[in-house]
Amino acid sequence: MNIISPYQNNLVNLVVSDENEKRDLIARANHLQSIQLSPRSVCDLELLAVGAFSPLDRFMTEADYRRVLAEMRLANGVLFPIPITLPIPSAVAASVGDSIALRNNKNELLAIMLVEEKFAWDWRAEAQRVLNTTDARHPLVAEMQTWGNFYLSGALRVLSLPRYHSFVDLRHTPAQTRHLLSQMGRANVVAFQTRNPIHRAHEELTKRAMQETNGTLLIHPVVGLTKPGDIDLYTRVRCYQALVEEHYERERTLLSLLPLAMRMAGPREALWHALIRRNYGANYFIVGRDHAGPGFDSAGKPFYDVDEARKLAKEYEDELGIKILAYDEMVYMPDEERYEEVKNIQQPKPTLSISGTQVRDEYLAQGKSLPAWFTHPTVASILTESSVPNHKRGFCIWFTGLSGAGKTTIAEILMELLLERGRAVTLLDGDVVRTHLSKGLGFSKEDRDTNILRIGFVASEVVRHNGAAICAAVSPYRAARNQVREMVGVDRFVLVYVNTPLEVCEQRDVKGLYAKARRGEVKGVTGIDDPYEEPLAADIVLHTTTATPADNARVLMTELQRRGWVRKRRGSLAETTSG
Ligand code: ADX
Repeated sequence: MNIISPYQNNLVNLVVSDENEKRDLIARANHLQSIQLSPRSVCDLELLAVGAFSPLDRFMTEADYRRVLAEMRLANGVLFPIPITLPIPSAVAASVGDSIALRNNKNELLAIMLVEEKFAWDWRAEAQRVLNTTDARHPLVAEMQTWGNFYLSGALRVLSLPRYHSFVDLRHTPAQTRHLLSQMGRANVVAFQTRNPIHRAHEELTKRAMQETNGTLLIHPVVGLTKPGDIDLYTRVRCYQALVEEHYERERTLLSLLPLAMRMAGPREALWHALIRRNYGANYFIVGRDHAGPGFDSAGKPFYDVDEARKLAKEYEDELGIKILAYDEMVYMPDEERYEEVKNIQQPKPTLSISGTQVRDEYLAQGKSLPAWFTHPTVASILTESSVPNHKRGFCIWFTGLSGAGKTTIAEILMELLLERGRAVTLLDGDVVRTHLSKGLGFSKEDRDTNILRIGFVASEVVRHNGAAICAAVSPYRAARNQVREMVGVDRFVLVYVNTPLEVCEQRDVKGLYAKARRGEVKGVTGIDDPYEEPLAADIVLHTTTATPADNARVLMTELQRRGWVRKRRGSLAETTSG
């Protein structure tokens, strides 16, 4: 077994440390074309810069990228399972010069890239290869479609790493982590990846791993991007802190936060996680059941088999240079008051487990406390305190459809019904928005997209603060709709397609728009001389020729009740009929 000694393999470091050079580069950056990186690319850049992806030292070149997709290897043959790329829009690709300044969304300078390559890519090919699916239920598949059409590569001069102001003591680079681990003085280090609070099943995995290796435990939760809908990082980290304090040996445990942007790529992701932890100084890595699994596809089937990640990681452990500790599903045996791996339970004995989805939907969303066999009471109380029950959480109802389809009318009735139930509602109507938020924007494709993204941005803020956002705008383009869905959060977003035929809208012609379009007085009217891209996966389709606006609004209320986003009215008809 060729395990690289934990503290020895070389780490990439892209951060410019020489002050004079830094000053010169910053001065140069002011004259360069700039691009704003997405939060995902900022995470990738940070981890490239500090050597977490060593030996990778840049966003991938085309040769690296193609081979990673096909064989999980860089062009030079080194194992690397996940593409790390910098997407840019076509317009930037067309105009990019020798160097480009990379900035965050506040326009702060992060790095300069000496551009060497730009190449086109195809989301379907990448998704199929890396994720083994193109199903839009996969969170990355949905997101990838909003990225630019080109990838950019070249040497990086990193001038500033993201600055953190929360949990500052728990953030360490690979070099700092190795140093801290080496001070803890044990030959073995076992790393544990998680994007969830640590419950007792996870704790059992980590404690078994510590015992097996006689090593130090590196609890290494991901705090960059995880699966949409996961418990927020602040709550999670408070849980980890409390747990480490109360239930782990202090001198054998290091809690450190990893600003990784997860891909939810299951098996390939497990390999990637292991490789990253090797760079942080671990020589053992825990892979349990359904590692980095994204849940279920649109046919209700799991994206990956529960043991696929374990198998793949085991297969490559020699090459990864980190040993994989693979565990089967850990379940609770109430009769014996202990946890055990399913494969070790011989006869049929009663076992208990609660899935992540159940934690969220059946406990926290209902304001119910988690049982002590499942999670320690301190952790349970942190989770209960910071969770907002389902019926008080924000959501967004997004109406799309032709002009005159009936979106506004249904939206206004829905607003009244929600207000009646005590919800705070913000209605963002396309026409109204164009009089202030989007004043001055026209009807070109670009302006229309800008308008939709502005509405999406406001809606996402409303939802984040637990309000109900109702948006009614033609929103003719699929890509922009997908983008707002991402912005708001796919799990709190309902796409409602008001499917009224063009002839009917034209007959109604409430705004006289179609008449003008037919006379050639206005151009770019959706349905006449501009396309309406019908939703492929609307959550709800409404028809306005066979149902009244009030009927349709009630259909939506029933759906919201079904999802538990709105409480059923006590003793109401709605309750007796649907509940
Ligand atoms: S993950 O996306 O980071 O994998 P999670 O935080 O739930 O999600 O899991 C962290 C690690 O614990 C993974 O290696 C996962 O496979 C493992 N794991 C989670 N729950 C169990 C369980 N009940 N039994 C065995 N392994 C588990």
